Parts: sequence; C-alpha cells; structure tokens
Amino acid sequence: MRVLGIETSCDETGVAVYDGERGLLAHALFSQVELHAPYGGVVPELASRDHVRRLLPLISQVLADAQLRKQDIDAVAYTAGPGLIGALLVGAAVGRSLAWAWQKPAVSVHHMEGHLLAVMLETHAPSFPFLALLVSGGHSQLVRVDGLGQYEILGDSIDDAAGEAFDKTAKLLGLGYPGGPVLARLAEQGQAGRFHFPRPMTQRPGLDFSFSGLKTFVMNTWQAQVDPDEQTRADIALAFEEAIIDTMAIKCQRALQQTGLTQLVIAGGVGANRRLRAVLTTLGTTLGVQVFYPRPLFCTDNGAMIAYAGYLRLLAGDRQDLAFYARPRWPI
Ligand code: KG4
Ligand code: ZN
Repeated sequence: MRVLGIETSCDETGVAVYDGERGLLAHALFSQVELHAPYGGVVPELASRDHVRRLLPLISQVLADAQLRKQDIDAVAYTAGPGLIGALLVGAAVGRSLAWAWQKPAVSVHHMEGHLLAVMLETHAPSFPFLALLVSGGHSQLVRVDGLGQYEILGDSIDDAAGEAFDKTAKLLGLGYPGGPVLARLAEQGQAGRFHFPRPMTQRPGLDFSFSGLKTFVMNTWQAQVDPDEQTRADIALAFEEAIIDTMAIKCQRALQQTGLTQLVIAGGVGANRRLRAVLTTLGTTLGVQVFYPRPLFCTDNGAMIAYAGYLRLLAGDRQDLAFYARPRWPI
C-alpha cells in the first residue's frame, strides 16, 4: 500500500509518499519561515494562503520524485489537527478531494501521533512499548506508547510548551522568529557557569512541566543587564537552554524509573535540539536505556510522519467518509 501524506497544520507544507514494502519513497517540505519572519511569529491567514499556493505543486513534485503516477497512490492521509484551523482546512480539503477524485480511501491523522511515530521511519527504531518525550511548539508531554493509538499521558505542560518557551525566550532576547533554532545556535557561543536558572518543578514529585516561570526569570535577568553585549546574550541563551533541557532530562529519568521502560524516544520540533539529544543520550547510557530520535528534519513538522501514521491507521482499518475533518484542538 502506498500512502500520500499531507501536512499543513502550521507553517510548513509537507508532502510524502510512504510504501508499506519499500518505506519512504519521497518527501518534500516548503517552510514559510521567510513569510512570517517580518511579523515575529506565524500569521494564521498568511499561513493558510501559502499552503493553498504550495500544496499542489509539492504533491506533483513528490509524485515525480518517487516516479509515481496518481493511480499508483492507494490512499491519502492528511493532518486533521491539532493546529491552525485555516491551515488544517487546506490540507484536509485537498487531501480528501484528491482521494475522492482518485477513488481511493482517505484517512485523517492526529499531528502529534505523526510526531510520536516519526522515529519508526529511521533504521534505528524502537519497538513497543516505549516512553516518548513529545516536545513541540504546542506540547510538552511524556507519553507511554504501548502501540498504535495506545497512548498514556504521564506528564503534560501546565503552561508554556517547551518549544513555546524557546520561542518566547528567543523573542525577549531580541532573536526574532523562528526562536528555538536561533536561540540554540546562539547558545553554542555561550560560556557555561556565568548564569544559572531554576529547573522548574523538579523539586516536587510528578511528571508535569511548567516553563513560563523560567521565561520570566530569563526576562528579569536580561532586563537587569546594563548595556548587555553579544556575549552576555549568548551566555543567557546557554543558561536558559541548560535549564530547560536539564528539566526535561530529570523528568525523563523519573518517568523511566517509574515505568521501568527501557526505550526512550524524543519526538517533536524541540527534539531537533542538539544539546537535548546529547544530554538524553548520556542519560540513556547511565540508565541502560536505549534512546531513539528521528532525523532532525523529521522532528519538526513534515509530511513523512503523516504518510507513515496514515499508513498504520489504514492498516488498522481506519477510513474517513466523504466529509473532511479539521480539529484545531484535539487531545491525543
Ligand atoms: O513540531 P514542530 O515543528 O511544530 C509543532 O508541532 O509545534 O515544533 C516547532 C517548535 C518551535 O517552537 C521551534 O522553536 C522548536 O520546535 N524547535 C527547536 C529547535 N528546532 C525547532 N527548539 C529548540 N532547539 C531547536 N534546534
Ligand atoms: Zn508539529
């Protein structure tokens, strides 16, 4: 079975074809970063309009790259949520309509399920059950994954998600959008030890995350600097990155010890962060736990994870009727 996957939940247009026997055949991504950069964040209406412009050419490109004709596609999977409603509607309308025109089934996919399962596209992939640290722009969760659709949320963000904390902290340091990767790059120039920020909610038991206080702490520190230079900015970026990553590592360790799981998966956009990957790899070695990551390109939003999750959903018998589905808020 060959599945065309379509992702348009936020500011990336992603398309891919996954083949049940041959794996990922082709994938393409169009990032809207340049479009939104002047506004310091994603402008939903601009995002929707750009998905309209990009999606059909990207689908043609992916079919050409995979040397497939439209009749070679057996099903269409599209992201139905969570995400920006206008952006979701573009992918849902196009995906559902193509499936109807091609007389093939369509399946709607949960964006976070796509992130959770993206690691299965790698050669170094876990088997069920595993613990996932799911950290993106809208989520910070620890999830016990026992199988497709068998997800138990062990910990959740009670305020800002990890990616949101990266983005907001980057903004207050004057780094613009997209904040996370820019802050991470700047932190590489930072000198360790000059600033130290708290590791929120690690002193009490539990697996929930809270990062908004950390952001405020950074803001107060930054504003207290008299005429700060570039090195100070980098040092603060590094101290923030260390604090947020340490916090995630402490919670991962706790969750691994509580569940007895021996495999840890890092998923979602923040999973592209090099320091996070390094710190969790070290933690895994210490605990005797295997650690798995998607390649950085498949940590952030992409069509491949939607094609793959859609493929598994179709195998499990999921199909949608002729309506198209878009749910901006949708718990996993
Ligand atoms: O998964 P994703 O692409 O979209 C959502 O589903 O939200 O995640 C985007 C988030 C953004 O907040 C972005 O700043 C963050 O992932 N991110 C990073 C890095 N790359 C992306 N955060 C820290 N370090 C990075 N290298
Ligand atoms: Zn995402």
